[in-house]
Amino acid sequence: MTDVRLHELAENFGNDHAQAAWDAGAAAIDQIENIVVEEQLDCEFQRVPAYLHVSVDGFSKKDISSLKKDAELANEFDFDATYLRRVPYFNLPGVRFANQAKFHPRKYLGQLVVRIAGGGSHVFEKSAAIRFDPLFIATNNPLVGLTKVTSATLFQTKLALYTSYVLGARAPLDIIPECIFWDTKDPYDYLRIDRGRDFDYAIFGGEDHKTGQVKRTEKPYARLLARLKKIVPAAQIEHRWSGQIISTPDGLPYIGENAEGQFIATGFCGNGITFGTVSAIMARDWATRGKSPWRDLFAVDRIKIKGAARNYFRENKDYPYYLIKDRLTRSGGDSVRDLKAGEGTIIKSRGKKVAAYRNTNGQVRKVSAVCTHMGCLVRWNSAESTWDCPCHGSRFKPTGEVIAGPAEEPLYEYIAITDHSKGLRIAGGIDERALRQQESEIRKTNRAISRAAGKVSVLRSIELNLNPRGEPH
Ligand SMILES: Cc1cc2nc3c(=O)[nH]c(=O)nc-3n(C[C@H](O)[C@H](O)[C@H](O)COP(=O)(O)OP(=O)(O)OC[C@H]3O[C@@H](n4cnc5c(N)ncnc54)[C@H](O)[C@@H]3O)c2cc1C
Ligand code: FES
Repeated sequence: MTDVRLHELAENFGNDHAQAAWDAGAAAIDQIENIVVEEQLDCEFQRVPAYLHVSVDGFSKKDISSLKKDAELANEFDFDATYLRRVPYFNLPGVRFANQAKFHPRKYLGQLVVRIAGGGSHVFEKSAAIRFDPLFIATNNPLVGLTKVTSATLFQTKLALYTSYVLGARAPLDIIPECIFWDTKDPYDYLRIDRGRDFDYAIFGGEDHKTGQVKRTEKPYARLLARLKKIVPAAQIEHRWSGQIISTPDGLPYIGENAEGQFIATGFCGNGITFGTVSAIMARDWATRGKSPWRDLFAVDRIKIKGAARNYFRENKDYPYYLIKDRLTRSGGDSVRDLKAGEGTIIKSRGKKVAAYRNTNGQVRKVSAVCTHMGCLVRWNSAESTWDCPCHGSRFKPTGEVIAGPAEEPLYEYIAITDHSKGLRIAGGIDERALRQQESEIRKTNRAISRAAGKVSVLRSIELNLNPRGEPH
């Protein structure tokens, strides 16, 4: 199954392609099952049904008809699906999709990775890739590396990073069936149940939003908790965390050749275990046979997809918007005096926006607030203690190191000196030359986005209002 609903896939891509996308997911589950059996991996793999149901917060007639449409289409495409007036436990209208699967991903990958080495294959971690032929870099978000920044960042504009919030909770034993649930809301809630000996474990997630674009990051957790309590009143929360989901304008991943000798796979949305496996199958076919049945469907440069252009613009209007808005917005002040331990804030220092963080020992660490990807200003995420970028979703540690791309470089160190000796002014610790280069790339990419989005005038007018420092006049 895909995050994008089956009837929407059929509308956007046509029935054949919608079926091919779901076939790819089914092939990936079969492939994982084969690997588990052949390699005798102990990872709790089991086939379970999945239920797509209306929201516990209410639903409309349209929700019901779209569920029926999904079930009909799934049957037409040879998938085992049934519309139900009441799905188990929730007692709400929904669709049952048979033959889905669940397993413990870390147990699966942990046992698999040690079996890869040998026969010319090696797996590396924490290693810089300098020369390679061939090499697979599995970073989820594409790296810019030494490639041309403009083309790489233009590709990045086809991707949108979302933060998804998750609660892990103990639930009473054996009252909820051990299967997969998700609802028809946008963004959707999802519930997974894992049977234990003394209690069941529930993983409940949702409240997705574009990374860095919500100020009060405690609130999504609070709303999620309220809904989980409505669904499982006896749930006892043990863990909470947030993860990154990389989306595409049309809901399908990009898997395929990006440049000569370069195979890329990204934009898995919430289906990266299955689409990651599809990518591996396709990469193997690309390297050994040069073709794949899904080549055109997941092509990196696909353009003719109904509805996708609108979404492309919607996702990218954020970028110049945040680039400008945040530079106009007042910072938290000039001083870190009121900054509490474990908190971060943006301050203004020598005319520059600085991301200041006070650690639990009371020491303050200052880094540039300018995202090293394409120059937007990062924001403090108090629920996760990270600096998040609202433009393309990069996340940084409080001390500036990258947690998640597309940014590859840490936030620049803030050193309050001015050094004229090297012909390089480090004003407020921010490398002016690097900033200038970054701004020129931003300008180039903005122009490319404008062209790709069909010469959207709002982007152009924002661009014209930039002075050479990338700041508004
Ligand atoms: C809450 C949640 C629930 C999900 N549920 C499902 C589900 O039920 N089914 C499903 O199929 N999918 C699901 N997904 C999606 C799926 O988990 C991801 O898409 C998948 O794990 C992505 O795998 P990956 O190997 O491509 O990337 P990742 O697992 O993100 O691994 C990428 C690795 O690359 C490293 N890296 C990044 N940048 C660099 C760099 N510059 N240099 C070196 N290393 C780098 C990272 O540290 C990381 O270890 C879910 C995701 C979330 C967040
Ligand atoms: S992630 Fe692109 S500018 Fe920050």
